Amino acid sequence: MHKFMIVGGNPLKGTIKVCGSKNSTLPILAACLLVEGQCYIKEVPRLRDVEVMKEVLMHLGAVVECSKDTVKVDAQNIKVTEVSEELMRKMRASNLVLGALIGRFCRAKISYPGGCNIGSRPMNLHIKGLKAMGAQVIEKFGYIIAETPKLKGADIHLDLPSVGATENLMMAAVLARGTTIIRNAAKEPEIIDLQNFLNRVGARIKGAGTTNIKIEGVEKLYPNEHTVIPDRIEAGTHMIAGAITMGNMTISNVIPEHVEPVIAKLKEAGVNIKTGDDWINVNASHRPKPVDIKTMPYPGFPTDMQPQFMSLLTLAEGTSVVTESVFENRYKHVMELRRMGANLKVEGQTSIIKGVKQLTGAQVEVSDLRAGAALVLAALAGEDGSVLENVEHIDRGYERIESKYNALGARIFRVHS
Ligand code: EPZ
Repeated sequence: MHKFMIVGGNPLKGTIKVCGSKNSTLPILAACLLVEGQCYIKEVPRLRDVEVMKEVLMHLGAVVECSKDTVKVDAQNIKVTEVSEELMRKMRASNLVLGALIGRFCRAKISYPGGCNIGSRPMNLHIKGLKAMGAQVIEKFGYIIAETPKLKGADIHLDLPSVGATENLMMAAVLARGTTIIRNAAKEPEIIDLQNFLNRVGARIKGAGTTNIKIEGVEKLYPNEHTVIPDRIEAGTHMIAGAITMGNMTISNVIPEHVEPVIAKLKEAGVNIKTGDDWINVNASHRPKPVDIKTMPYPGFPTDMQPQFMSLLTLAEGTSVVTESVFENRYKHVMELRRMGANLKVEGQTSIIKGVKQLTGAQVEVSDLRAGAALVLAALAGEDGSVLENVEHIDRGYERIESKYNALGARIFRVHS
């Protein structure tokens, strides 16, 4: 197990470059399964979750080779259309191969991805959409088994704008017979990036980023290359790092529009923000003002930024209210922040945070990716030393976070225990 020993108190100053988006890379790597040939995906971040997806693709029979931040996927000879429980337990986003497998091979069998620390993570909307497209889907012995003579286009309404369900159904529809419409689709930038990749390999998709996505089925897809968009959640996390340490940070390789909800809330909290075409400068010189936040699907405030922003609000000059409306259990970081001297409580899906002047050091447990990021940020702000256990969770979504922050003045030491 890895730990972080962090000594806080230093303002972070300088420039930090954002990597490619984890939540774009994962569906796009899965979508390579639809293509009979070699695809080159560029600006792929070096993350544990990406390693697991590459392992899943190789398990299925794809040839996967990497050089620097480019991943080549050759899915010419896929031999297997099943993802085992062992692989699925490593990363629930492995469920993103479901749509591509049944889309190209008319069959797929994936172990039910378990819930995780932030919620039960059901797949009912994925399954409902596949059934609408003519797949027989049975769920037994902990597996989802889907098969069909051939998928056909359908008019699908999602009860919730689920990111994963939208992505799986887009991938299932690109080789289906006829036209599919996904209504109440997720509008996240990663959905647009997936559409752009699929259209580059010959799909015919319109409307990603809006409520309705239209996919006209085609016969075959052809190899091509694609560069994934920058990671908006990594960018937002760095913005909070600059604000919580009262530093002056420039975040480069970012699409400001993708982090607009975070920019708006930081400005409301009194943080000075400047933006350019592909950079954002965060300059904070005093405690933040309290703000209220309610997480919503894009373009609302992102749930993946809720823990990190809560860390900032523990130091606000007043009381803030944070409501998590996307996941049912995304408050694991609250107990740990309380151990660091924060004054906050959870009532149902709402957390009330009374700002304090200073956080203290503590030994805390990292329970999931974004909660871990939140605890790093809180530890950077505290004057004393903190110990974060199980930081492997953080490695799932942040490439070398300690070296990036130490280059700006942080004191984070990784200990392999
Ligand atoms: C994606 O997860 C992201 N993961 C998550 O990021 C992100 O938090 C989430 O979207 C919301 O933005 C990847 O892209 C790999 P959802 P996903 O389906 O697709 C319910 C991170 O930290 N739901 O949009 O699993 C579900 O329970 C991760 O990088 C159903 O009810 O999220 C949840 O309450 C964490 N039935 C809500 O929808 C379904 O069939 C949103 O889930 C599917 C989802």
